Amino acid sequence: MDLPRAPRINPSILAADFVNMQAELARIATADFAHVDVMDNHFVPNLTFGPQMVQRIQETSPVPLDVHLMITDPDRWAPGYAELGAASVTFHLEAAGEPVALARRLRDIGARAGVAVKPATPVEGLFDLLDEFDQILVMTVEPGFGGQGFLPETMPKLQALSAEARRRGSSVWLQVDGGISAATIAQAAEAGADTFVAGSAVYGADDVEAAVTRLRDLARAGSLEG
Ligand code: DX5
Ligand code: ZN
Repeated sequence: MDLPRAPRINPSILAADFVNMQAELARIATADFAHVDVMDNHFVPNLTFGPQMVQRIQETSPVPLDVHLMITDPDRWAPGYAELGAASVTFHLEAAGEPVALARRLRDIGARAGVAVKPATPVEGLFDLLDEFDQILVMTVEPGFGGQGFLPETMPKLQALSAEARRRGSSVWLQVDGGISAATIAQAAEAGADTFVAGSAVYGADDVEAAVTRLRDLARAGSLEG
């Protein structure tokens, strides 16, 4: 698969109409990935969908899937999402027993392996492990719900990861998720993000395609400032 170039815009279908999912997926055909938030009502206080639904989304989506697992025990459950064909599978560092072993397993199955950190989780422990992951997701809200406000205090973590990746010549993607909109995307790009999840900012727009293009343009402009 040819990988989309930065800046990548991944609409979160958490903000889509769940009972019209086929049409909602068709609306994001010009985006880079469909971001799929799997929540288990245990790692986060919200519940979305599991492998059966994600399998149908995979079969229906015009763009590859970027699965974000907000679940307990990803060591047990994450490989199943890679096996159903998700292009990218991201699990939370706080929930994983053996994050490196799990990332290797996801790659062996053929998915890109991602690791996510909540706003209060430090990232220095990942510096020596950058090569083990294809993507690091710095959460810019507390995981669990769409429509929350962007937390600018997470930006230093992104800057640190970005500097470290540059220093090591790493090609790891740096993703942000939560409160990303036309008002916030440039500062995340400036801090080093290259992959942007946006739920309400995309699905809340009248013209979804125009919203994706606008976010991409603003991210590109922001990264030139960075
Ligand atoms: C939150 C999810 C996000 C959410 C983002 O836990 O991980 O992907 O859909 O929604 P917005 O863009 O509305 O903040
Ligand atoms: Zn997400």
